[in-house]
Amino acid sequence: MNKFEGKTIFITGGTSGIGKATAKEFLDQGAKVIFTSRKQENVEKTEKELGENAKGFVSDAGKWQDIENLTSKLTNHTDQVDVLFVNAGFAGFSPVTETTQEEWDNQFNTLAKGGFFTAQKTLPLMKEGSNIIFNASIVTDMAMDGGAVYSAAKSAVKHISKSYANELKGNKIRVNSISPGPIGTNFYNEAGLPDEQKENMKEQIKQQVPMRRFGEAKEIAKTVAFLASDDASYITGHDIQVDGGMVQL
Ligand SMILES: NC(=O)c1ccc[n+]([C@@H]2O[C@H](COP(=O)([O-])OP(=O)(O)OC[C@H]3O[C@@H](n4cnc5c(N)ncnc54)[C@H](OP(=O)(O)O)[C@@H]3O)[C@@H](O)[C@H]2O)c1
Repeated sequence: MNKFEGKTIFITGGTSGIGKATAKEFLDQGAKVIFTSRKQENVEKTEKELGENAKGFVSDAGKWQDIENLTSKLTNHTDQVDVLFVNAGFAGFSPVTETTQEEWDNQFNTLAKGGFFTAQKTLPLMKEGSNIIFNASIVTDMAMDGGAVYSAAKSAVKHISKSYANELKGNKIRVNSISPGPIGTNFYNEAGLPDEQKENMKEQIKQQVPMRRFGEAKEIAKTVAFLASDDASYITGHDIQVDGGMVQL
């Protein structure tokens, strides 16, 4: 089914995990995809993997200079964005008593400030009927050991999504967020935890999921594609948890 034929999708952080799976989902449904990464080598590798309808460029969601240049970088590739998926991100874990200002700034800069201004800088290319999906997290509704800053930054993302939905209602642009539960991606490798701590954490988390498994990135991708499609034409300002029941049960 080519539900997104003729549409252009912009995904931040499209070289791995949820972002890459979402790129594949939209490509499979006939769209063109533009994605970002922090590294040129990852852009090139991912372009090869995704094929000719996917193009990437380097833009770090945590660097103000890159955010400021986002509109002009985007217009090198397209004059229209139909769907924006604000996805780029990572988590850091440390107890509240040991958290540093640097950890706070890194996560808030990338997730909250980066997400807010990514949407603002993409908007000039978005017309009536287009839509935005922010990637939040279920940690906005639950506490996680060592995850205080990440939870706070993702809570900001969830409310940024709602505020955009409110202010863009007159432009007929729908805005929603998704809140993934634990998903099997590079996310835990990127958190900088020692191997043993990482494996223990993953096992503990798995036991907390009613479905007793990590989700797959494509299960998030399908939800993003649903929200971006006309099937979700009356949904805006919403957050959908895709988490194997972790928060609901
Ligand atoms: N996996 C989970 O359990 C889970 C749960 C809830 C929410 N999430 C959220 O899902 C999103 C994607 O994570 P993932 O699980 O797919 O992890 P992942 O496999 O590590 O993918 C992260 C992606 O984001 C990009 N990225 C990271 N920092 C960036 C920055 N400053 N600027 C631009 N791109 C950046 C990475 O690209 P490069 O390395 O090429 O720069 C990569 O493409 C994140 O926002 C994360 O918080 C994940």
